[in-house]
Amino acid sequence: MGSTSLLPTIARRLEGKVALITGGASGIGKSTAKLFHRHGAKVFIADVQDELGQLVSKDLASPDSFIHCDVSDEEQVRNAIDSVVTRYGKLDIMFNNAGTIDPYKQGIINNEKADFERVLNLNLTGAFLGIKHAARVMIPAHRGSIISTASIASVLGGLSTHAYTSSKHALVGLTKNAAVELGQFGVRVNCVSPYGLVTPLAEKFFPAKGEELEKAMEGPANLKGVYLKAEDIANAALYLGSDESKYVSGHNLVVDGGYTIVNPMFATHFSAS
Ligand SMILES: NC(=O)c1ccc[n+]([C@@H]2O[C@H](COP(=O)([O-])OP(=O)(O)OC[C@H]3O[C@@H](n4cnc5c(N)ncnc54)[C@H](O)[C@@H]3O)[C@@H](O)[C@H]2O)c1
Repeated sequence: MGSTSLLPTIARRLEGKVALITGGASGIGKSTAKLFHRHGAKVFIADVQDELGQLVSKDLASPDSFIHCDVSDEEQVRNAIDSVVTRYGKLDIMFNNAGTIDPYKQGIINNEKADFERVLNLNLTGAFLGIKHAARVMIPAHRGSIISTASIASVLGGLSTHAYTSSKHALVGLTKNAAVELGQFGVRVNCVSPYGLVTPLAEKFFPAKGEELEKAMEGPANLKGVYLKAEDIANAALYLGSDESKYVSGHNLVVDGGYTIVNPMFATHFSAS
């Protein structure tokens, strides 16, 4: 009896939940929106790309589930969250996934303050606003899962620009601080940190595109014979958003095939000498 009644729950891991995904018009956010929808969640996507956002929301069989929202603008974040709560009476999962990167410029002395602030404003302040306003509605409900997309640049230096690395390291700090504060209200706060994968953001940063970029990412990767896809990050977010992770909070779930656990310099140096 137990096993047959459990099956549908296992198949649809977010049944009855309501989720808001920022940066949901493209890449990781779009893939996560589709996966959450398949798992039974009511999904809203918030983005600044209106046309792409509308297309994704049609795929979710809910054409009015797209909300225009610049995550660095507090009123727009407040409005996005309030719109979800007005429609469904609650918010179970907030996925702060919108992000950007500045062009790589060799040498910190050639880096512009304006680029630095723009990246921090979106990647860090945007997530702060998402956590703040999600907490506003999750605290009275005494439940909720807040997830942010960080990066392997949240745990390692030298992989990306100063601005991007700073923003993602800080996002992990913010996640831990918020998890400490919100635990008493039953609200969990976590990050997911991908290795490099092909999305419009990555294609803006790296000279290679598409399959060529995917192959280039495999070069320095630790895990061989498999490429990281947006769906893999969506699956990590699915776990953090679902009740299967009900005791996981303050965690940075690194999805990198083991890239950040090894420093190959030592072995490379001695095998070459
Ligand atoms: N692609 C990678 O290699 C990689 C690796 C590690 C982490 N990440 C992180 O993954 C997240 C998603 O990026 P992606 O790779 O899917 O790229 P993407 O370009 O496909 O998606 C980013 C989305 O964020 C949206 N966005 C940008 N500025 C916004 C704003 N002000 N308000 C609301 N939305 C805004 C964009 O319109 C876009 O839809 C980012 O936080 C990024 O830093 C990506």
